Amino acid sequence: MIRFQFLVFAIAIVFSSCQKEKEIIFRESGLEKYRPLIHFTPPFGWMNDPNGLIYKDGIYHLFYQHYPDSIEWGPMHWGHATSKNLTKWEHQPIALYPDSLGYIFSGSVIYDQENSSGLGTLELPPLVAIYTYHNMEGEKSGKLDFQFQGIAYSSDNGKTWHKYKGNPVLPNQGVKDFRDPKVTQVVKENGEKIWVMTLAVWDRVHFYSSKNLIDWDFLGQFGQNNGAHGGVWECPDLFQLVAPDGSEKWVLITSINPGGPQKGSATQYFIGDFQNGQFIPDDNMIRWLDYGPDNYAGVTFSNLPKNSNRTLFIGWMSNWLYAQVVPTKSWRSSMTLPRELSLFEVEGTKLIQSKPASELKDLRKEEFKIKKNQSGLPSQAVEILASVQNNEDFNIVLSNENGEQVSIFKEMGLISIDRTQSGSHEFHPDFLAMHSAPMSWSAKNIRIYLDSNSIELFINDGELVMTSLLFPSSPWKKVEFSNNLTQKIIYSLAD
Ligand code: FRU
Repeated sequence: MIRFQFLVFAIAIVFSSCQKEKEIIFRESGLEKYRPLIHFTPPFGWMNDPNGLIYKDGIYHLFYQHYPDSIEWGPMHWGHATSKNLTKWEHQPIALYPDSLGYIFSGSVIYDQENSSGLGTLELPPLVAIYTYHNMEGEKSGKLDFQFQGIAYSSDNGKTWHKYKGNPVLPNQGVKDFRDPKVTQVVKENGEKIWVMTLAVWDRVHFYSSKNLIDWDFLGQFGQNNGAHGGVWECPDLFQLVAPDGSEKWVLITSINPGGPQKGSATQYFIGDFQNGQFIPDDNMIRWLDYGPDNYAGVTFSNLPKNSNRTLFIGWMSNWLYAQVVPTKSWRSSMTLPRELSLFEVEGTKLIQSKPASELKDLRKEEFKIKKNQSGLPSQAVEILASVQNNEDFNIVLSNENGEQVSIFKEMGLISIDRTQSGSHEFHPDFLAMHSAPMSWSAKNIRIYLDSNSIELFINDGELVMTSLLFPSSPWKKVEFSNNLTQKIIYSLAD
């Protein structure tokens, strides 16, 4: 039956040319079982890292690594989606296509308000995308310099893009891994504004500076002897956060693959200072932004209004261990829910809190106050809240009609998500696992976002976060709480 369905579906797809038509065919094919209801997914085809996250004129832009012709990784494009509220995304035409220089790998977008690049005008300043070219011929021929940085610009808020004729703007000097530029504007002590590019270079980051986004000078590097080194560093980001004591700190995040705490991909962070092209961390501890297995390559939005005081982050909700074999059919991968990053302190140490973006509260449809220790689930997308008394151990179990379950619990100072009985796992041996995270301070409240193929767990509103994919054979239908959990509320987030 599935085979026949697949054949009809494949033929229909080949003969349909327009995006909307394809989308309808996919939805009606019955092969969309795991398509999330509140998370961003590409219309069809492959997706990995979020790219060029930027807010401009009331619109959030999400560009992303995309291969529209297959559900496996391939020649990379930049897909594009926009949102007015971070909860509903509209698909836009593909923003950047591969060209003779190579595939378009990850990167960032900034608003060049003073037209420092000269690629727009002062009246109509451009958006500038800075991305990595990955040249396949170069790679195949055994050269080392097949990744280099290029730029493209847009004068219509990201709808259409022009590649800069002088690309590459930052050639490679012979390092195999030389990618994922994240550009941010830094105001120097003398008031001068410069662009700083943070680039992942094998096992560390490099910083470059520019006045015009075209000519780049090497400033410094960080990381060779800091942080985790079980794999290559990718997708860095450099930004400022205000600490609870009012001091301004610089934060550097870098994703690493493999070598994460749960095997495979993960994102680590450093808190410190950034001066004259040098990043000086407060200490040399290894810290993870998310202790689940499925949050990678995340970065923050640029150009958010200064007075909003927000740093918004979105990650790719997968792991390179199994991203290309997960059992979705017409598309692969979703993004995490947007999160607001801030700093909090535990015994004098500053840590990052990742709180669900406040807009997510607008997703709430119906509220169910749960008096007993179990309840049915009103929808495939729900938010579950509970309070923990006196930092006691707790347990929450989600189950379905096929006897599958996933448990979320605290025991021996560890917060864990056990997905060993959560459904489909045969696609990769590493999927069948229980993931744990150390939490040395009090767990006071639990907030869970559950969708058709994922769970995001926020303890104390994101002081500890775990993101995990799940592929149950039928939807989760029931939730059970340990006796000591109070103030239990479930919100349906979709019909
Ligand atoms: C991270 C990454 C990036 C690269 C992109 C290619 O997931 O490997 O380093 O630019 O994906 O798609």
